[in-house]
Amino acid sequence: MIRCYKLNVPKFLFVDNFKFPEFRNNFNHQSWTLKANQVIHSETLNYFQTEFGLQLTDCLISYLKAGKAGNDIHVDGYGHDVVQWAINYVSTGHDTKMCWYVPTAKSTPYKADFGKIIEVWNENEVDLVEEYNIGKYPILVKIDEPHRIYNNGAADRWSVSLRNYVSEISWDNVVHRLAGVRITDNI
Ligand SMILES: [Fe+2]
Repeated sequence: MIRCYKLNVPKFLFVDNFKFPEFRNNFNHQSWTLKANQVIHSETLNYFQTEFGLQLTDCLISYLKAGKAGNDIHVDGYGHDVVQWAINYVSTGHDTKMCWYVPTAKSTPYKADFGKIIEVWNENEVDLVEEYNIGKYPILVKIDEPHRIYNNGAADRWSVSLRNYVSEISWDNVVHRLAGVRITDNI
């Protein structure tokens, strides 16, 4: 199964004068939840809405220090959240990898620092099933299966993840909608 597609979209623009949040220097990995329109330009948000009927309302910003792994193997969305996918874009720190896993044990619910409850697993509770090197292109990613980010590069990674926490558009549906712009190889 493919869990990550590179997207060949014309532009991926931030709002004018956008600045990433201040981060605490002693943390390797931090996240913030914002509204998509606080981060991404309306031209880009409107493109996804008009071309594909995808309303991207929420934005998770993540900071991951150079040479570090993300905090945990996790699934985004727990309980009331129905989110199955996100459109991600790495702004800096392009030598990163995203890995997906199949659990071999039960997850533990965990309250993340950005306020959501997520499910997490230890490394000995999962099997690796898929991994992609993430470049500088927007990507469609499946986030309702256990996954983790690794920053293998020399630069800190700043990324944005556009979602809609109440949309019930499924993974299969969004893969279908984005058929004209997604690229399966060369990621
Ligand atoms: Fe995630």
